[in-house]
Amino acid sequence: MKNIAIFASGSGSNAQAIVEYFRKQGKDPVKLILTNNPKAYVLERAKQLGIESVVFTSEDLYHRTTVLDILQSKQIDFIVLAGFLWLIPTALLKTYKGKIVNIHPALLPKYGGKGMYGMKVHEAVVANREKETGITIHWVDEEYDHGDIILQVSRPVDPTDTPEKVAAKVHELEYLHYPRIIEQLIS
Ligand code: GRF
Repeated sequence: MKNIAIFASGSGSNAQAIVEYFRKQGKDPVKLILTNNPKAYVLERAKQLGIESVVFTSEDLYHRTTVLDILQSKQIDFIVLAGFLWLIPTALLKTYKGKIVNIHPALLPKYGGKGMYGMKVHEAVVANREKETGITIHWVDEEYDHGDIILQVSRPVDPTDTPEKVAAKVHELEYLHYPRIIEQLIS
């Protein structure tokens, strides 16, 4: 089984869903959780799940080999972005070519790109009276929310839905599909 590292900048509920999905099958491929945000709740989740975590700086990621060295020392084969807000540098993309995936909480190319994350996405969906929204799981490249699409799943948006309601619907889709797609991609 391949070794997975998850990058997250915030709450980390997807990270937790992924770990639990595999553990239900008696598997434990997530070896490391990395974050750029020392206050991210994902660090608390990592502790509770008993998974090693690492906080890194932008220097570490963009100007040193720190992050790459950590990944290689843990023999990481596959990288999962789950609410990670920084771009992945070219050196990392080259080393992990075709092995880095992301999930975006909307139907790309709509509502993607720099600054389009979290509740901002759902607020924009509601403000524009979209009739549907959903998730996009895609390969990662040099641009935000841009690589080849692996899977999109949509859900209707009701006229009375608040951004919070839309966020809840999208999270439900994320927990349902991201872990199983990761499983397919690493097997
Ligand atoms: C998710 O909606 C994901 O699609 C997006 O960021 C959010 C992260 O949520 N990329 P969480 O930190 O996993 O709870």
